[in-house]
Amino acid sequence: MNILIQDAKNHVGQEVTIRGWMYNKRGSGKIWFLELRDGSGFMQGVVAPPAASPDVMQAAEKLVMESSVKVTGKVAAHPKFKDVYEMQVNGIEIVHVCEEEYPISKKEHGPDFLLNNRHLWLRSRKQWAIQRVRDVVIQAVYDFFHKNGFIKIDTPILTPNACEGATTLFEIEYFDEGTVYLSQSGQLYLEAAIMSVGRAFDFGPTFRAEKSKTKRHLTEFWMMDAEAAFVEHEESMEIQESMICAIVERVLRDCLPELTILERNLEPFKKIKTPFTRLTYTEAIEKLHSLGSDIKFGEDLGNDDEGLLTQDSDVPVFVHKWPKAIKPFYMKTDPTNPELVCNDDLIATEGGGEIIGGSQREDSYEKLKAAVEKEGLKGTEYQWYLDLRKYGSVPHSGFGLGLERVVRWLTQAEHIRETIPFPRLMERVRP
Ligand code: 4AD
Repeated sequence: MNILIQDAKNHVGQEVTIRGWMYNKRGSGKIWFLELRDGSGFMQGVVAPPAASPDVMQAAEKLVMESSVKVTGKVAAHPKFKDVYEMQVNGIEIVHVCEEEYPISKKEHGPDFLLNNRHLWLRSRKQWAIQRVRDVVIQAVYDFFHKNGFIKIDTPILTPNACEGATTLFEIEYFDEGTVYLSQSGQLYLEAAIMSVGRAFDFGPTFRAEKSKTKRHLTEFWMMDAEAAFVEHEESMEIQESMICAIVERVLRDCLPELTILERNLEPFKKIKTPFTRLTYTEAIEKLHSLGSDIKFGEDLGNDDEGLLTQDSDVPVFVHKWPKAIKPFYMKTDPTNPELVCNDDLIATEGGGEIIGGSQREDSYEKLKAAVEKEGLKGTEYQWYLDLRKYGSVPHSGFGLGLERVVRWLTQAEHIRETIPFPRLMERVRP
């Protein structure tokens, strides 16, 4: 019977076959310990007589690192470690023996070498664990949204209008229609969709031609945008913090083996509970000054500033109500101060940095029209967006969560490039 390693616990004492790869081997001609992986988990296969015939012993000897195999044997609980299973092997079918030595060995490799070999590096334990956490975060987000009345609406990637400023657009010539851009965020389209479905989210690749070589910037990253009708600034932050808690709880529930491989300290995780800290931008600047930062009012927060704001907090920190001048055209002006907007950035703990950006949207036709013009945007491309404020305009808010930023925070990956299967950075589009 073929099984997945993740199900081995249900087959103790039975003879089963696992289909996978041998990533390591120890032993001598008398006994071999095969370290096997099949994508669902890891398992040791013990190859020794009398269970293993001389032919099976020979097959084990032939296997080199990353050879693919089907291995048959009896499953046993590991004598020392709880929840660990091994196999007493009595059959080996070799699927493919590597023709050359596998390039990624146990020795230290530099980042360039690993990134050039990303197609192989993905097989490494740590990279495997990060991708599994990523998958669980995606599931958690889908479940959270569906439970809270949001439906998934797929927004376009090719767009004639900019959402997040003209400086980071990737341009494409689109037949006879002129220049279009790769989407920076599905937000504007979600705003149209919620006037039909009330609450919506999307999840897709987004693109920023960012000339930033930081550990937190990709040029292609996956964003979950969410948008909700009748939800105002404060309620939007409540949705965001509940979503982050749902993600953390799910990862703690479903990813313990992965977090163990990643040597993730679970204690800070357990402290993540609502309500998150809320600081207005003005309060944040005052706090930063008191902590020795020389940031000026009106500047964006740098990496160090974000670190200072969260260093004494067990929970992520909302910095909200930013100066209008440094934020996008669509944000709603703060009714209590026309220089500010009703927006928020959510800063993660443990050096995670900004993981969410959100805001209440301007719902007045006149004010939004003026903002489009002031920004120097091509009015005709935004007429449909302005229309939304002409026909049954409602207060509404939304936010965008950067998937890789969240995965980096949760896994404590050194660099964001490890959190996406094939990273696209300013200086890297291969493999
Ligand atoms: O703050 P941003 O730019 O917000 C928007 O795009 C809104 N339109 C979203 C919305 O309201 N629906 O981006 C949202 C999040 C950031 O908080 C960050 O997590 C992530 O997207 N992000 C990036 N992640 C990786 N690499 C980059 N270059 C990123 N730029 C933004």
